[in-house]
Amino acid sequence: MNSPLDLRKLELRKLTTPQDLFQAAAEEILRAAADAIAQRGRFTIALSGGSTPRNLYTLIAANASASQPWDQMFFFWGDERHVPLNDPDSNYRMAKETLLSKVPIPPANIFPVPAENPDAAAAAQAYEETLRKFFALAPGDFPRFDLILLGMGPDGHMASLFPETAALQEKSRLVVANWVEKLNNSRITFTLPVLNAARCVAFLVSGADKAAVLHEVLEGKAPGEKYPSKLVRPSAGKLIWFVDRAAASELLKVSG
Ligand code: 6PG
Repeated sequence: MNSPLDLRKLELRKLTTPQDLFQAAAEEILRAAADAIAQRGRFTIALSGGSTPRNLYTLIAANASASQPWDQMFFFWGDERHVPLNDPDSNYRMAKETLLSKVPIPPANIFPVPAENPDAAAAAQAYEETLRKFFALAPGDFPRFDLILLGMGPDGHMASLFPETAALQEKSRLVVANWVEKLNNSRITFTLPVLNAARCVAFLVSGADKAAVLHEVLEGKAPGEKYPSKLVRPSAGKLIWFVDRAAASELLKVSG
């Protein structure tokens, strides 16, 4: 998939400051939740990890009133580091510290990746079974999350789908262990078909260190294997890019 992203098929939300970005993303999440619950009685979200969403989760926890229908919201992770859940690097631990421990979400509604399993492939397989069971999937089906949050690394990766890694080619599995040479570690990650099956995918990209790669992803002609975030194109869903001014500073076609 080398063709440039069709900017008409994505929503580019350019905010001035990181705080404006987190505010806009928080509003979109709560709007999507209300919409999903009204239409289908539940809201399924896959959280992203790393540092960018930390402030988003903190903001949601601070502002979201107890009256939110937390018991109808179900939390998953689009990727996880291959570490125990209480490890400082754990995406689960970060979300728990900033959000999940601060709002009344029933523990049964939270589905961490079993990353404490020393066998990363077994952990991925177990998480895949969790998705198949929760979404009552028939063989060959993919889960349709209401919202998948993604960050974008400075190399253009999303979730733990890093450039030129094996997991990028996976077309049938839902969750795989992905060896990332430059990290000298495995990650556990949703596959591209799961990302592209979502009702909505929202990227959160903040900071000048992302500016060059954001231009490549949104406006460049390099292959998706080199900049995997280019490959996220929900087949029947929305794609929203929340970017702040610093991250958008090298975009050529975006006005304003
Ligand atoms: C992770 C994330 C990863 C992250 C990007 C951006 O496990 O780290 O899932 O894909 O979103 O690396 O990270 P920052 O937000 O820290 O720049």
